[in-house]
Amino acid sequence: MNSLTLPGLIDPHVHLRDPGQTEKEDFLTGSQAALAGGFTTILDMPNNSIPITKKQLLDKKIQDAMGKTLCDVGFYFGTLGDNTDEFDSIAHQVHGLKVYLNETTGNFQIDKEKLITIYQAWPEHGGPILLHAENEAVVFALEVVEKIKKPTHFCHIGNAKDLSLIISAKKKNLPITCGVTPHHLFLTIDDAKRLGPLGQMKPPLYTNEDKTFLWKQIKNIDVIESDHAPHTIAEKQRIPSPFGVPGLETTLPLLITAVRDGKLNQEDILRLCFTNPSRIFSITSSENTSVDVDITTPYTIRNSTLYTKCKWSPFDGMAVIGKVIKARIRGTTVFENGSFLVPPGWGWTV
Ligand code: NCD
Ligand code: ZN
Ligand code: ZN
Repeated sequence: MNSLTLPGLIDPHVHLRDPGQTEKEDFLTGSQAALAGGFTTILDMPNNSIPITKKQLLDKKIQDAMGKTLCDVGFYFGTLGDNTDEFDSIAHQVHGLKVYLNETTGNFQIDKEKLITIYQAWPEHGGPILLHAENEAVVFALEVVEKIKKPTHFCHIGNAKDLSLIISAKKKNLPITCGVTPHHLFLTIDDAKRLGPLGQMKPPLYTNEDKTFLWKQIKNIDVIESDHAPHTIAEKQRIPSPFGVPGLETTLPLLITAVRDGKLNQEDILRLCFTNPSRIFSITSSENTSVDVDITTPYTIRNSTLYTKCKWSPFDGMAVIGKVIKARIRGTTVFENGSFLVPPGWGWTV
């Protein structure tokens, strides 16, 4: 077996559902999935069943995470535009502000007229403004960034059109970055047909041409974010099915497999999953924090062997390499050969 040692990776876009929907995931199982996937730091989104739009709710969430997480976890604040008076008191506790401009899980979409007010009010030391924006919302948001030049991260860009808009805006030196998900890099609308509800997420899967464009433009993509969005299988099979797919445990194997297949190089993984997310979201990396990955032994992604509480993956059945064999945080081995070696609450909130 050949192994590769990487710094502890950062996933800046996960939904751990805690508090409120712990039947889907919680800070313990979510952090287990993170470590088994090579991520020692994750940043959690605010679209909980009660969205995190007040200091009191954020404090409570941080408190809950402190008692449960095995890895390091940081947070984003949420807004519908009516809580700007809370911004100054929570900016130091978060890595950014999340704004939803389109419909997605959580019914947490803003009235877009409010975006300007939100941009004016957000203090820059609170990190970038993260946008869920698709199609026309990307155009609209870029106009706002052009007016109020605050750092903005476009989450989970899924198609060629949206990425082209972002690339053009970057050429104008707007302070923007963007992320793509593994599912948009490795799956298409054909997989969505095969997967049924298990292939439904926002933004949706697009065509093979879109996927090819994302790969071609990988140098213009700043981060890979799993958008780990667990829902129980029972919920996914109900109509309407909630949007979102889990991803924490499959991102790195898919990327390592892409390196083997000549689609990516190891430096890209470092840039997309460590250096850039750490710079964009101000993550101070801890000393002696690393992951060892087996980069030769083939295995098959299987729902039954996942640590996420929801126990399924849209990549079930896929042959990959890149199993994480060990994770270390601040010199302590926290995960080794499938076992977690530290108690709940060992990880830090960052
Ligand atoms: C996410 C979720 O389930 O919270 N769903 C999704 O389809 N991506 C929300 C989001 O990131 O838009
Ligand atoms: Zn989203
Ligand atoms: Zn998301």
